[in-house]
Amino acid sequence: MALWGGRFSEAPADAVFALSRSVHYDWRLAPYDIRSSLAHLFVLETSGLIAENDAEAIRTALKELSSQVLSGAFTAESQDEDVHSALERGLTQKLGAVGGALRAGRSRNDQVTTDLRLFAMDHMLEIASLLTELNWAILNKASEYVNDSAPGFTHIQHAQPVSFGHEIAKHAQAFSRDLDRINDWFKRASVSSLGAGALAGSSLPLNPELTAKNLGFESVFANSIDAVSDRDYVAEALFIFALVGTHLSRIGEEWTLWASTEFAWAKVSDQYSTGSSIMPQKKNPDMAELARGKSGRLLGNLVSVLTMLKGLPFAYNRDLQEDKEPLFDSIDTLLLVLPAVTGMIATTEFDREKMAAAAPTGFSLATEIADYLVRKNIPFATAHESAGKCVSLCESTGRQLHQLTDAEFGHIHPALDGGVREVLVVSGALDSRTTSGGTAPILVVEQIKQTLELNSQHAKKIADRARAFSEMMSA
Ligand code: ARG
Repeated sequence: MALWGGRFSEAPADAVFALSRSVHYDWRLAPYDIRSSLAHLFVLETSGLIAENDAEAIRTALKELSSQVLSGAFTAESQDEDVHSALERGLTQKLGAVGGALRAGRSRNDQVTTDLRLFAMDHMLEIASLLTELNWAILNKASEYVNDSAPGFTHIQHAQPVSFGHEIAKHAQAFSRDLDRINDWFKRASVSSLGAGALAGSSLPLNPELTAKNLGFESVFANSIDAVSDRDYVAEALFIFALVGTHLSRIGEEWTLWASTEFAWAKVSDQYSTGSSIMPQKKNPDMAELARGKSGRLLGNLVSVLTMLKGLPFAYNRDLQEDKEPLFDSIDTLLLVLPAVTGMIATTEFDREKMAAAAPTGFSLATEIADYLVRKNIPFATAHESAGKCVSLCESTGRQLHQLTDAEFGHIHPALDGGVREVLVVSGALDSRTTSGGTAPILVVEQIKQTLELNSQHAKKIADRARAFSEMMSA
């Protein structure tokens, strides 16, 4: 059913209808559209614009429609243009002309963005909750390996040994920032647009503040032209999703590398691995690869919405209909990827012996020699030079740093004595890195504890919001 047509003498061409149509994807907005219609109905009724008995009939029909949508008994049909027209058809089929009463003071322009904000908030909460579960998995895994050493890398070259728990826990910092960003996003997303009308507000005695309150929004639009035009909340959500995807892709890359035969650090569980159709021996870390690969579309969706918005005149333009599919796709992608990555992390075991054996190799303790000299008041540049000479001597004679003789140390720098061997052990190197945020295991334990605490705070905020949201939806 078309929501317009009075001034037209001909029906739209098939191609026009085909290009305009969005109901095949925006049907997902139906529950939010019905809920915002109930809020609009309330305002129309309290301001006397709809008679009480008509309002009651519409309310009953909307609630009926709501359960029919939920059960699948009422669905969009081929002649429906979008979710709004499909639902108005449903109402009119039940009520006759009265079904069209809700359009007073409301345009699809303020309606669609209200629905989309509700949809985005609802799904943002679902994603945020999955992120807190991912963080639990990361931090729990990290705590299993706090006292295990491994080489830490820069440029994918052995750099300095680290606590492997520290190595894993770093990812929780990235996702904690994402959770923080999500929390902040709500301030700008939770703004009601209903009452802005087509673009200019309404001459009818509507009450946008009341509608906003009814729908649980934190605030209400300040400028009706901006209200129907603003899709910053979509772009910002897509940025958050793209960044989450980027963080997931870096985990994906690490896990893939660590599971390789060359590293053989990570044993990804069978449950989270896949096989090859031709090579019977293969066990591939496909979840890690998909986490890495899916980040492409998350980034692409952000770019496509920003590109659509760039240079767009304010108020409503049909281009804005292109805001939905990228948002839906990013949400659907993360709803698939997050549980898989969480499960993969939770069930991966690491080879402690192999990592510990690798920790001191590649001369990763060379900095200890330089720091040893600095503690004897040798300027760092000189100390660095001397430590470099130790590495060079080891390389040319096929030895490790602790295998150099006292005489060789003394020859490289007079302040370098056999005492340096005490710092040329991995555990000593780890334990000594006690500056805040450092890799000393006692600090890593503290770090994990604090991040878990932060994560619980996020989880609580999300649960509170989710409870309020579902109460609003079922009101
Ligand atoms: N389906 C449209 C969208 O998603 C609804 C708004 C249509 N408004 C209009 N003036 N044609 O943006």
